[in-house]
Amino acid sequence: MKDAAKGRFLIGTALNEAQIRGLDTAGVRVVREHFNAIVAENCMKSQPIHPQRDRYNFDAPDRLVAFGEQNGITVTGHTLIWHSQLPRWFVYNDDGTLRSAEELKAIMKEHISTVVGRYKGRIKGWDVVNEAIMEDGSYRRSPFYEILGEEFIPLAFQYAHEADPDAELYYNDYNMWAEGKRNTVVRLIGELRERGLRIDAVGMQSHMGMNHPDFAEYEKSIEAFAAAGVKVMVTEFDMSALPTSYVGADLAGGGIDPARAMNPYPDSLPAEAYEAWHKRMEQALEIMLRHSDDITRVTFWGVSDSDSWLNNFPVRGRTDYALTFDRGHRAKPIVARFIEMCREIPADKK
Ligand code: G3I
Repeated sequence: MKDAAKGRFLIGTALNEAQIRGLDTAGVRVVREHFNAIVAENCMKSQPIHPQRDRYNFDAPDRLVAFGEQNGITVTGHTLIWHSQLPRWFVYNDDGTLRSAEELKAIMKEHISTVVGRYKGRIKGWDVVNEAIMEDGSYRRSPFYEILGEEFIPLAFQYAHEADPDAELYYNDYNMWAEGKRNTVVRLIGELRERGLRIDAVGMQSHMGMNHPDFAEYEKSIEAFAAAGVKVMVTEFDMSALPTSYVGADLAGGGIDPARAMNPYPDSLPAEAYEAWHKRMEQALEIMLRHSDDITRVTFWGVSDSDSWLNNFPVRGRTDYALTFDRGHRAKPIVARFIEMCREIPADKK
């Protein structure tokens, strides 16, 4: 895939611990053959990398960066400031009260300068802030927001730039096709730029399903972010092949087991379900290819179907079929189709 997309955008994937440690040899083989960008699925988030104020875990992150360097693969960092997988000490005092603004600023600066500084010149760019805006365009009421208001975002970008002036800096979020979120992110880009702060791109995570997004809205967001003067990255692309919610009549009363309804294909995906999935993937990839002058990277959120977080979301223990390589690490037909589409759709790269 990476060779077919050359001259358009990087093709990336998220690595889990087993791949980072070289234990998943089949997965690593696929990464080397098809991807030219990698990101840590988990090990660089604040909880795993900085569990206590005076302790960092750099073993897995160091291995990831070394793997990228040894294989000529671009590495990006995920993620510096996020309300999830956040250690409590980061934002709460020992007595459970929220930290002061001054204390949180010091902690953010210390975390960001230590982590970004360690990989200075070796990591191409960072998801500086992740998922800070809600679908309606309001700011998420995270502890960062409660303590610092909207200011925590420019501060994070400032600290990241100070730690590695050459690193690209990104704002990353999901459901970026939602109009309210789109408009606030466009405003955020303008505010950061007005303050002379660096922001190179926005990451559209692109966790899709059989009934979302509305592709017209998705395309509008790509265009809106590009018009705001930043590049766009598809940062966590996957397409669940399963129902995302089950509403309606009393399932049990109707003889339908709710768990079964949410996990309809535990053993394999029926051909007609694959066909529907393949068609939606083609639609999504076609939009990305048509906008390859605005898009710099398309990263899938995992290597093979067995690696996907969607096997445990929104309920644990599901069998989803969300990625481009199956559980036997075989390329699905969508891989060949993507390579074909790269030839068919002109790259209007400026
Ligand atoms: O590493 C521990 C392990 O030691 C422990 O035994 C186990 C017990 O459950 O948990 C393991 O940590 C899990 C971690 O994944 C690594 O497997 C966490 O519980 C689990 O919550 C975590 O889930 C990750 C999720 O983010 C939550 O942070 C998913 O793998 C990861 O795919 C997902 O990725 C996020 C992006 O970072 C941001 N955008 C949304 C996306 C999907 O939620």
